[in-house]
Amino acid sequence: MILALWHAAPVIQLRTVRDEELTADELAELRAFLNAAYDHEFGDEDWRHARGGSHVLGLVGAELVAHAAVVPRNLRSGSRVWRTGYVEAVGVRQDQRGHGHGRTVMLKAAEHLRATYELGALSAGPQNWPFYERLGWLRWTGPTFVEVRGEQRRTAEDDGEVFVLPTPATGEFDRTEPLVCEWRSGDAW
Ligand SMILES: CC(C)(COP(=O)(O)OP(=O)(O)OC[C@H]1O[C@@H](n2cnc3c(N)ncnc32)[C@H](O)[C@@H]1OP(=O)(O)O)[C@@H](O)C(=O)NCCC(=O)NCCS
Repeated sequence: MILALWHAAPVIQLRTVRDEELTADELAELRAFLNAAYDHEFGDEDWRHARGGSHVLGLVGAELVAHAAVVPRNLRSGSRVWRTGYVEAVGVRQDQRGHGHGRTVMLKAAEHLRATYELGALSAGPQNWPFYERLGWLRWTGPTFVEVRGEQRRTAEDDGEVFVLPTPATGEFDRTEPLVCEWRSGDAW
């Protein structure tokens, strides 16, 4: 019995907040958390990309152990423009990985974007594809573009790394077609 308790994963509590609801101290804590979760490679642009929408915070007691941001963006394929919940800054504290906390915050983020947006999307490197595929995210296989002042520019380096999650409002789509995001500073996707 004691051994069973010893191996039990800590219980995680979820809090979903709008960006503007976070206090300066909470924002500083989140930034430090993400910096550590990304091995000190979470830059200013990454931080900007994680702001302006909602945050799913995973807490063990008062400690932040997991996070996912959902920010609004527009994505286009053909004549269809989707108001998209774009997932950014997914991270779990290094010593808390492998306990399902990443899955838990992503399921909550998916619940939020299904209720709020027409489509979910994110960009992920190959090492994380199985994590998102297990959660039902679908890889976009068509060519990707960014729209800059009305002109569509190829983002070939991002091809195959964009995932989408349909919501009840998505309608039909073809993952082999071109997918276009609106411009932002830093990484387009
Ligand atoms: C990716 C990350 C968020 C996963 O968090 P986690 O809490 O360890 O993941 P979970 O324990 O919830 O894993 C859920 C499932 O995905 C699997 N999984 C998680 N990461 C995986 C990986 N890199 N490769 C293969 N499978 C993975 C788990 O084995 C588990 O599988 P199961 O459904 O069979 O049990 C975490 O490793 C992390 O913070 N990485 C650094 C930051 C980062 O890369 N973020 C993603 C940016 S796109």
